[in-house]
Amino acid sequence: MSFAYAITLSFFLSLFLTDRLCLTPSLFLSSPPKEFLSSSSLSYFLDSFSLFLHLIEKALTLAIEDRDQDQKKMSKSECKSASRRLRWIKSAAVSFFLLLVYTQGMAEGRRVTKVPRCPATCSCTKDSAFCVDTKAIPKSFPPGIISLTMVNAGFTEIPEGAFSHLHLLQFLLLNSNTFTVIADDAFAGLSHLQYLFIENNDIHSLSKYTFRGLKSLTHLSLSNNNLQVLPRELLKYQDILTDLDLRGNSFRCDCKIKWLVDWMEKSNTSVPTIYCASPFEFQGRRIQDLTPRDFNCISADFALYETYPFQTLSVESYDFNDDLYVVFAQPNTGICTVYIWDHVDMLFRTHYNITSRSAVYCKPVVINNTLYMVVAQLFGGSHIYKWEEGPLQFVKIQDIDASRVRKPNFIEMFQVEGDWYFAVVDSSKAGSTSIYRWNSNGFYSHQSLHPWHRDTHIHFLEVDGKARLILSSSSQPPVVYQWNRGTRQFVVHSQIPHAGDVHMVKHFWAHQALYLCLTRFIGDSRLVRWESQRFVEIQTLPSRGSMALQPFNVGVRHYLILGSDYSFSRIYLWDELTQCFRPFQELNVLAPRGFSLVSIDNKDILLVASFKGKTVAYQHLLVDLSAK
Ligand SMILES: *[C@@H]1O[C@H](CO)[C@@H](O)[C@H](O)[C@H]1NC(C)=O
Ligand SMILES: *[C@@H]1O[C@H](CO)[C@@H](O)[C@H](O)[C@H]1NC(C)=O
Ligand SMILES: *[C@@H]1O[C@H](CO)[C@@H](O)[C@H](O)[C@H]1NC(C)=O
Repeated sequence: MSFAYAITLSFFLSLFLTDRLCLTPSLFLSSPPKEFLSSSSLSYFLDSFSLFLHLIEKALTLAIEDRDQDQKKMSKSECKSASRRLRWIKSAAVSFFLLLVYTQGMAEGRRVTKVPRCPATCSCTKDSAFCVDTKAIPKSFPPGIISLTMVNAGFTEIPEGAFSHLHLLQFLLLNSNTFTVIADDAFAGLSHLQYLFIENNDIHSLSKYTFRGLKSLTHLSLSNNNLQVLPRELLKYQDILTDLDLRGNSFRCDCKIKWLVDWMEKSNTSVPTIYCASPFEFQGRRIQDLTPRDFNCISADFALYETYPFQTLSVESYDFNDDLYVVFAQPNTGICTVYIWDHVDMLFRTHYNITSRSAVYCKPVVINNTLYMVVAQLFGGSHIYKWEEGPLQFVKIQDIDASRVRKPNFIEMFQVEGDWYFAVVDSSKAGSTSIYRWNSNGFYSHQSLHPWHRDTHIHFLEVDGKARLILSSSSQPPVVYQWNRGTRQFVVHSQIPHAGDVHMVKHFWAHQALYLCLTRFIGDSRLVRWESQRFVEIQTLPSRGSMALQPFNVGVRHYLILGSDYSFSRIYLWDELTQCFRPFQELNVLAPRGFSLVSIDNKDILLVASFKGKTVAYQHLLVDLSAK
C-alpha cells in the first residue's frame, strides 16, 4: 500500500518539481489523496515523507534563491533551462525517496501484522474464545479477549508464561484436559485474571511458583485432579482469593499439609469440604476438622559436624573445672588424646596427649575435684594418671597389676555406697576381669570376677537400689552380678538366657521400665525388658558386624545407635506408640567402636569412635517437616 502511495506521490512530486518549482511542497501535503488516509501504514509513510521533505528542502531553497537572484536577468526560457540544470537534484531526490519509502514499506510489512483472527480450533466472540482439541496454546488471538476456555486439549503440560500474550484475561477455564504438569510461572502476565479453573485434569504436583503473578485471582479450582500435597507457599500471592475448590483430590494428611490446615483456620477464603485419603490414621477425616496440633512435624537429623584426623578405639567425655572434654584412645599412635570444647569456635580442639604407647581405652573420672585417667594398654601394663595443676599435665601415679589384667579392652567406672570403683575387662583366655576401689590416694585391687572367660564388656546399673554388673563375654551368655552389702563383693546373680555371642550390653529406662540392649556381632541384636523378675524380648535389630551400641536421649527423644562393621551404622528412634525402636537414620562410619553424646552451648553432639576411619562428630538438629 505504502509502496503504491510512494510511487504515485513521487510521480506528482516529479511533476511539481519540474513545473512548479516555486510552489512549496507543504501545499501538496496538506491535502493527500483520500484513499491513502485509510491506510494503516499512512503514519509510517508520513514519517518517511517528512524526512524526504527535509532533505530536499535544502536543495530547493538553494535552487529558488539561485533563480530569484538570476530572474531579473533571465528570460522565461533561461529560467526553464536553469530548472533543467536542477534536474539531477530532483531525480536523485526522487530515487532516494522511492528507496526510502520502499524499505520503510518492507519493514512495516513485517512489523504490522494483519489483525489476528480467531485460531482455527477456537470459536471467538468479541471478548471470548472457546478452544477444543487444540494441539498447543494458540499463539495469537483477536485483541480484547478477556475469557478463554480450553477443553480436550491435545497436550499435557502448561509451560511457563503460556498465556502471557493474553494479558487482558479475566477468566480462564482449562477443565477436562489431560494436564499433568503446570510449569512455574505458567500464568505469568495475567495480572487481571480473576477466575481460574483447572478441573478434571491429572495434575499430581504444583510448585510454590505455579500461581505466581496472579494477584487479582478471586476464584481458583483444582478439583478432581491427582493432588496429594500442596506446596507451602502455593497461595502466597493470592491475597484476595475468596473461593478455593480442592475437592476430588487424594490428599495425604501429613506434615506437608499442615500449612493448609493452618491457612484454612485463619483465612476467609471459602473452601468446600475436602478429605484425607491417607495416611491410615487420618483416612476419611475432613481436613477442615483437623487442627495444626494434630500434626507432629518435628523430626531430627544427625548432621556431620566435625571430623578428627585419627582412628579411635574409645571415646569418653567428662566435665572438669567448668570445661567439657573428650578423650580418645588412638590405636595407631597408642596415645590418649584429650580435646577441649572451644566455646568461641564451637568445636573441640586438641588439648593434651597422654604419652601412652598402646592405649585401647582411656577412662576419665573426677573424684574429689581431682581428675584421674585410667589408661588400659594392650602392652606394657595399664596405668592411672592424675591431672596436676602446676605445671598442667597428666602424671602417672599408679600401675595396674599386669599379671591380673593381661589383655584389657574396656573400662567401666561406677560408685557403690559412696565409693568409687572401676572394672577392667580382660579379653585374654588367662586373665580375668578385675575391679579396683578408690582409697583416698589410689585405686586398690578389690575383686576378680570369674577367670578364663574372654570377656568383651561390662556394664554397671542399679535396679531397685541394688548395684549390678552385666558382664558380656564371647564364651557364654551375659552374666549378671549383684552387689552383696555384707561381703562388699559382687556375686553371680543370674544369666541372661538365650543370648549367646553377646558383645556388649547397655541399659536405658523408659516409663520406669528397664530395658537392655544386647549387641551380637552377626545375627540379631536384641532389646529385652525387665518384667516380673525376668527379661522379656521386645525386639530384634539386625546386626551386620556390630561391636558397639549406645542408647541415649536428646530432649524427650530416645535413641539407640547400633554400630556395624559391614554396613551403615543405624540410629533407631523410640516409638512411644508401639513401645519399640524404629529405624531413624543411617550413618556411614567405618568400624565404630564407641559412642558418646555431649550437650553444650545448645548443641547436642554425638561423637563416634571409628577404628578404621576418621573419628566423627554429628550434630543432632531438629527439623520442622511442615516448613519444607
Ligand atoms: C477476614 O475477615 C475479617 C472480617 O471481615 C477481617 O477482620 C480479617 O482481617 C479477615 N482475615 C483475613 C486473613 O483476611
Ligand atoms: C597431640 O598429638 C597430635 C598428633 O597425634 C598433634 O597433632 C596434636 O597437636 C597434639 N596435641 C597437643 C596438645 O600436643
Ligand atoms: C577429698 O579431699 C579432702 C581434702 O583434700 C579429704 O579430706 C577427703 O578425704 C577426700 N575425700 C575422698 C573421698 O577422697
